[in-house]
Amino acid sequence: MMNKEEFYNLLKTRRSIRQYKKDLVSREILERVLAAGMEAPSGKNRQNWRFFVVQGEKRNEYLLYSQKSWLGIKTILKQRLKPSLYDFTERFFFTLGEAPVVVFVYSHNDSEERYHTSIGSVYMAVENINLACVTEGLGSCTMGAPLEIRQEVDKFLGVDKLLEYQRGELELLCGIVIGYPAHQPPRAPRQIENRVTWLE
Ligand SMILES: Cc1cc2nc3c(=O)[nH]c(=O)nc-3n(C[C@H](O)[C@H](O)[C@H](O)COP(=O)(O)O)c2cc1C
Repeated sequence: MMNKEEFYNLLKTRRSIRQYKKDLVSREILERVLAAGMEAPSGKNRQNWRFFVVQGEKRNEYLLYSQKSWLGIKTILKQRLKPSLYDFTERFFFTLGEAPVVVFVYSHNDSEERYHTSIGSVYMAVENINLACVTEGLGSCTMGAPLEIRQEVDKFLGVDKLLEYQRGELELLCGIVIGYPAHQPPRAPRQIENRVTWLE
């Protein structure tokens, strides 16, 4: 069992990684990382996460989609990011930081569970995956960007052929790029003020 210090260090060590080495990630390691995701709690224990692991040629093909998703968010990011960070982020979308793996994460929503509980359950798995990546010496970056082109992504993955999808129950939540980190970004600042209200 990891000690207290190791646990808090793990949380602090995790960063969104946007530059990767070209090294592939073995199937065995990816399976462990995904299994960590599936250790997450979920409403009514429905385990309503669905993962689509994209590698190799299929990952290369996705680059075109990633570039397209950039068009949907670049205007907002231009206002929010300083120019150097904006250029860096644009490069990330055009190359995926050379990451060899992209995991697309879907939620299976159905009438047995409230919508927000379904979505929240899947994001619990997403963070487990991010933390398992740190433990494996991997980097990861959760990406909302694919949502800009969600229908195209659904088709690209063949999700649109699934019965659950046709019933309107499968929803793309994010992509997670995974690979061996090729940079060590500074820690993104955290704001503590006005985030917690104590009532006694
Ligand atoms: C739901 C979600 C969506 C995100 N979408 C993107 C994205 O599309 N592109 C990107 O470069 N980073 C994305 N990020 C990463 C955040 O920018 C990052 O988590 C935040 O700036 C804090 O930095 P850190 O993860 O290094 O602590 C996303 C993170 C989350 C949780």
